[in-house]
Amino acid sequence: MPKRARTLSVALLSLAGASALLAPPPAAAAPEWLATPEAQLRAMRRIQCSEVDGEPAIYYWQGYAYSRVAGEPDKTLFRVEGMNIRACGPLANAKSPADFRLVSREILLYEDPVTGEVLREWPNPWTGKKVTVVHVANDPVNGPIFSTFMRAYSSINREAVARHSVFSGPVKILDLGGGDGDLSMAIATHHPEAQVTVADLPVVIERTSQSFSSHPHASRLQTVGVDLLQDPLPGGYDIILCAHVIDILSPEEISGLLAKARAALAPKGKLVVFTPVTSDHGRGPLINSLMGIYFLALARGKGRFYSTRKLREIAADCGFKAFRDVPLPCDEVLLIAEKGG
Ligand SMILES: C[S@@+](CC[C@H](N)C(=O)[O-])C[C@H]1O[C@@H](n2cnc3c(N)ncnc32)[C@H](O)[C@@H]1O
Repeated sequence: MPKRARTLSVALLSLAGASALLAPPPAAAAPEWLATPEAQLRAMRRIQCSEVDGEPAIYYWQGYAYSRVAGEPDKTLFRVEGMNIRACGPLANAKSPADFRLVSREILLYEDPVTGEVLREWPNPWTGKKVTVVHVANDPVNGPIFSTFMRAYSSINREAVARHSVFSGPVKILDLGGGDGDLSMAIATHHPEAQVTVADLPVVIERTSQSFSSHPHASRLQTVGVDLLQDPLPGGYDIILCAHVIDILSPEEISGLLAKARAALAPKGKLVVFTPVTSDHGRGPLINSLMGIYFLALARGKGRFYSTRKLREIAADCGFKAFRDVPLPCDEVLLIAEKGG
């Protein structure tokens, strides 16, 4: 299994442990035990490993692996069974007493879905060829888990989004919560007239500015340090992009941010939201419901995955109009709206 997919599966399987946290979202502020970045790190550590440095924690899982190919029904490919042993300890150059380093080792076996027998060979149903099965043996898989996982997750549809024609022409784009700037760099690469500014927390922006400085399109990549929830946004942009950001916010925070975003847009400006979504009836897909718990429990104690309908409703209440949504693989969507008059 490629390393990115492996990291994703580790992070998702950890959600099984978090399922006991399935509860309605907090109505007001985060509870005290999740109120600060340090408290959130401690909560993350409690889910990931022992609070005692060096003490091992063991995970075991079993399930089925399915194919997902556009236009085909999913196929059951394997039964899978795995275990992971991990320990946490101090982080070199820690900035807070809650910082920690996680090291884990992991195996996962691919098994016959009917008999449960460990597979040595497997007939690939698409090519008809028999291939040797390479089981997963990661030694070690190191954290930091969340940022690695988020980066891998964000990359699934990054290229498709970056190529979209909404970014064509001489447009000024503000990428809210743009993080490491991976999507902004991809947009600048595909659209030679686009100028992209990443807006993120000052501590994140320091790193992003460094990677922009050596990028071939550095002259069209800028950064600005802002707290999206507290500070005003810089104005005069043709496009405000929210990529994997809406899902860390409560509905009230989304309204506040989109109202500020609308004010920061030029008269014919557009809002572009790239995000995982649940179905409009709110009962799936399973993976996004589980991921929503992860965001609700860990990311900030407020976010979750929303349906396209809910996002349209919130954006329409902020004055946005003429919605278009482009469905993307893996239950993500690109929602485009106009500032309107
Ligand atoms: C899940 S990441 C998404 C990063 C990137 N847009 C992507 O698609 O991969 C969320 C981003 O929002 C930023 N963020 C969270 N709260 C913020 C705030 N209050 N002000 C500014 N940025 C914030 C985080 O620093 C992080 O870079």
